[in-house]
Amino acid sequence: MKTKVLMVCLGNICRSPLAEGILRSKVDPKKVSVDSAGTGDYHIDDIPDPRSIAVGKRYGLDISNQRGRQFRAEDFERFDLIYVMDNFNFSDVISLARNEEDKRKVKLILNEIFPGENVDCPDPYQGGQTGFENVYKMLEEACEIIASKLKEN
Ligand code: 4NP
Repeated sequence: MKTKVLMVCLGNICRSPLAEGILRSKVDPKKVSVDSAGTGDYHIDDIPDPRSIAVGKRYGLDISNQRGRQFRAEDFERFDLIYVMDNFNFSDVISLARNEEDKRKVKLILNEIFPGENVDCPDPYQGGQTGFENVYKMLEEACEIIASKLKEN
């Protein structure tokens, strides 16, 4: 059966669209589907931030067809794994969980690189292009690990 993965940040325009695009580029679409959402409602139907589109493009990834949407409790039914970018996203998503099974699906994405350390993938929205470059590199490394784990399934 297909594994369904959801990437979650606050706005769904900077970090999670990149995480969605990066992971999708590393998996077999017949076996794994990838989507993203934001805990906030600021950017519903918006295209990703131009700085995320630009950094993706530099690494050969086109994320410009994605559109923002808000995370909702029903996403716990639709997805097997929910990767959040930071500890705020973690609390926000967990607060919508209806049971322990929902909670078990939620993981901090950088714990894939630094297990158990609960490190944030920092929100780059207020900063410059360098922040987006750093976010890309972190997400690339984390998604490489996620993709190799999914291949073992
Ligand atoms: P993201 O970045 O959570 O990585 O998409 C943000 C984008 C927009 C806002 C906050 C964070 N905002 O407040 O509009």
